[in-house]
Amino acid sequence: MHSDVERILFTEKQLKKRVAEVAREADAFYAGKNPVCVGILKGGIIFYSDFIRNLTVPAELDFMSVSSYGSGAVSSGKLKIKKDLDCDVKGRDVLIIEDIIDSGFTLANLKRLLCERGAASVKIATLLNKRPARKYDICPDFNCFDIENEFVIGYGLDYAERYRSLPYIGVLKRSVYEK
Ligand code: PRP
Repeated sequence: MHSDVERILFTEKQLKKRVAEVAREADAFYAGKNPVCVGILKGGIIFYSDFIRNLTVPAELDFMSVSSYGSGAVSSGKLKIKKDLDCDVKGRDVLIIEDIIDSGFTLANLKRLLCERGAASVKIATLLNKRPARKYDICPDFNCFDIENEFVIGYGLDYAERYRSLPYIGVLKRSVYEK
C-alpha cells in the first residue's frame, strides 16, 4: 500500500468484479442498441476502459474533458468544456461513464447539455457515488459503490494529479492534503 494511503476501500479484485457486474447490467439494458459511451477525462479513464471491455453491444467510444470549476457554492457556475465529443449525439443513446459523482455539478450539467443536443437518451454509469456530498439533483443509473464523504484516490482518481495509477481505491491520509 502507498504510504500516503490511510486505508484501502476497494481492492483491485473487488473493483474488477463489481465493474464487470455493473457493466453487464448496462449491456443488457442496451441490448439491440448502439450506444455512444462517453468517457470523461481524466479521472474516469481507468473505470471506462474496464467497463467497456464487458460490453457486447456495438458501442461507439468517445471522450470529453470538462472542468468542474464553479461547482462549490456557486450554483450558477457553468461547465467549461475543454475537449468536446467527436460525434454528434443527436438521436443517439448516450451512456456517460464517470469515476465519481461528488456534488453532482459535473454530471447534472453534462446530462443537460447532451439532452439539449438532442440525444435520444442519456444515462450515467459511475464507479463511486458520494451521496453525502450531493448538491445537485442527479443520480447514476448504473453505480458500482456508494461511499462516504472521504477523500478517495487511485484507479483514475487523483489528488493534485497524483495517485491515478494506483490499482485500488484508497482513502488519502489527511496529513497529505492538510499540509
Ligand atoms: C472529478 C470527477 C468528476 C467530478 C465530480 O473531476 O472526475 O468529473 O470531479 O465532482 P462533482 O460531482 O462535484 O462535479 P476533476 O474535475 O477532479 O477532474 P479529473 O477527472 O481530471 O480528475
